[in-house]
Amino acid sequence: MERILLTGGTGFVGGNVAAVLTAAGADVLCAVRRDPGPTFPWRWRLTDLGDPSEVTAAVHEHDATSVLHLAIDNDLLGLYRDRRAGFDAYVGMTRRVVDAANAHGALVGYLSTDWVFDGTGHQVDEDEPANPLNLYGMFKAFSERVVLDRADAGFVARVGGVQGRHLTQPAAPRQQDCGFGYFVLALVDALSRGERFTVWEDPDINGVASPVTASEIGARLLRAIEVRADGVLHVVGADAVTRRELAEATCEVFDLDPALLGTGPVPDDERLPAPMPFDTSLSTPRTTEVLGIAPYGVREQLGALRRELETGEPCPLTTPAGAAT
Ligand SMILES: NC(=O)c1ccc[n+]([C@@H]2O[C@H](COP(=O)([O-])OP(=O)(O)OC[C@H]3O[C@@H](n4cnc5c(N)ncnc54)[C@H](OP(=O)(O)O)[C@@H]3O)[C@@H](O)[C@H]2O)c1
Repeated sequence: MERILLTGGTGFVGGNVAAVLTAAGADVLCAVRRDPGPTFPWRWRLTDLGDPSEVTAAVHEHDATSVLHLAIDNDLLGLYRDRRAGFDAYVGMTRRVVDAANAHGALVGYLSTDWVFDGTGHQVDEDEPANPLNLYGMFKAFSERVVLDRADAGFVARVGGVQGRHLTQPAAPRQQDCGFGYFVLALVDALSRGERFTVWEDPDINGVASPVTASEIGARLLRAIEVRADGVLHVVGADAVTRRELAEATCEVFDLDPALLGTGPVPDDERLPAPMPFDTSLSTPRTTEVLGIAPYGVREQLGALRRELETGEPCPLTTPAGAAT
């Protein structure tokens, strides 16, 4: 059985990953920084990821065979306000996780982002050197290098255009932002209420990506652990889509009225005072080979997401195999 220590389990992607791993029979322990409350569905342990001995203790106590590091300080402006704290929250924390995993012989899986690229490419593959435009992308790229150069065993999984439900904060508002996160369900929420939805079209924001569901990320991370993957993986969908194309595909798959869609610029108060990549679509030649599974198209994934909304359960398209054996 895989024994997995997971950071970021109270977050959007981490919750989906915890759910998929647990359903597949993996023994998951979430390293959390505060008591997540009585309804939190998975096993947890208070762990200060700023303290190397605490991280080591968590890996050791769980006798972890792998550590999935998803925790993130998701405040882009905060990174600019305090660069040193931001550097430690990304790069220093990743180093502490890698050192603890190395000491226990555990594999490290690090979740990274399509924002390590400058957005001038299209369907960029795993071997393309990073060229981040902002501090978030740069700290993620530095953290990738920590894993690639320092982990005795480990991989970097870049994701982007992540769609899904926040499992532990289901009531949290889902809004369009300058990235692709939450885009689909923000649109579904609005159109289901009969409201109009303005798709932001703007050369200064993330305009093209390769969407993937958060639960599919969970299934593919488990596959990566099972095959003891190394190097860089691109854990994304097969299709590179614009925001407009994603909106239209969502209307089609969720049976919503496309006449309620409009396009417009980003509202001024939603702009971020940092440059961001436009086309962050990724291709997956190495990942398909390493994992032995091809990525799914956007419509198949939207169908799975619709089933998630209807059933309340994560519905990854990839069936995890062998986790409990
Ligand atoms: N969402 C996307 O669209 C997207 C796209 C590309 C890449 N990613 C990557 O996916 C990963 C997860 O992102 P997300 O969207 O799920 O983020 P999120 O919803 O903001 O969750 C962040 C998680 O990190 C935890 N965390 C933050 N600072 C911490 C600290 N100092 N110590 C311990 N835990 C800490 C949070 O704990 P609390 O609950 O206590 O705050 C939470 O569990 C990140 O590595 C991110 O770069 C996400």
